[in-house]
Amino acid sequence: MMRAQGRMLTDVESLIEAPHGLGLSQRPALCDVTADRARISEKLVSLVARDSCAADQYRALRQTVERLRRERGFQVIGVTSPCPGDGKTVTTLNLAGALAQSPDSRVLVVDADLRRPSVAEYLALPRTSFPGLAEAILDPAYDLAAVVRCLDTFNLSVLPAGTPQVTPYELLNSPRLEGLLRDARRTYDCVLIDTPPAVALPDCRLIERFVDAFLVVVAAHKTPRTLVAEALNVLDPAKIAGVVFNADDRSRPSEYGYGYYGYPERVTWWQRLFGTVRSARVR
Ligand SMILES: Nc1ncnc2c1ncn2[C@@H]1O[C@H](COP(=O)(O)OP(=O)(O)OP(=O)(O)O)[C@@H](O)[C@H]1O
Ligand SMILES: [Mg+2]
Repeated sequence: MMRAQGRMLTDVESLIEAPHGLGLSQRPALCDVTADRARISEKLVSLVARDSCAADQYRALRQTVERLRRERGFQVIGVTSPCPGDGKTVTTLNLAGALAQSPDSRVLVVDADLRRPSVAEYLALPRTSFPGLAEAILDPAYDLAAVVRCLDTFNLSVLPAGTPQVTPYELLNSPRLEGLLRDARRTYDCVLIDTPPAVALPDCRLIERFVDAFLVVVAAHKTPRTLVAEALNVLDPAKIAGVVFNADDRSRPSEYGYGYYGYPERVTWWQRLFGTVRSARVR
């Protein structure tokens, strides 16, 4: 069983106005994917082990995201991190699963990591020649509904990356992406975008134009501080909604008895990183 969890450590009071109306349409049509539960990654506790302690941690993160939506109108949220392997995809999918546990919610996960897409693999989606984000960007004949796969069992919609035929830069730079995400805003309450690492790749800066906020995943005890600082510099500070500490397995000093985080001495340097941001608060 996974001992780790994600948790928003720091919320950033940004100056973002809620720029997007929430003119939501009817529920998206449910389509054809039957999730193969047995083959879904065991790391996706929000889907396959909902009663676990780890799943509770993602529900806590869900509460924070729901509050950001309520209070600031955040609807499209990118999930990034400084380095490969920090846990972006696991965090994205577990947060999505937690959000989708509310039966009324309409949640879409977009795999915008066109370099190393893994959403479909984590979810054990059937390997087919279905089009994905890359195809939808290149070919206007595909609208959003044509490329979204709905996992009815989990009340979750997914837009896999597809098969990029041109460079990720060209795809993510396309105005078609903006159009697809505009449609997503009309159809879904919450859109989570799984992205490549923020450091050393231009992708997140392209995606940044279309998200309301980023969650920055940091692998506890792993992601180098210098790269965390670099990632935070690369991104627009006004769009950093918070840092999610992933896979921290320190013993929780309370009655819960499993991995936790947020020891004051550990938080200090994060707070320094966010020193320029007003009203940072630790949850
Ligand atoms: N909370 C967690 N608990 C246990 N294992 C985890 C956790 N988060 C991530 N992992 C594992 O760490 C590895 C990297 O996770 P993940 O694929 O989510 O990272 P990523 O940041 O999306 O990587 P990439 O940059 O390659 O897209 C995987 O083997 C994953 O199963
Ligand atoms: Mg990933």
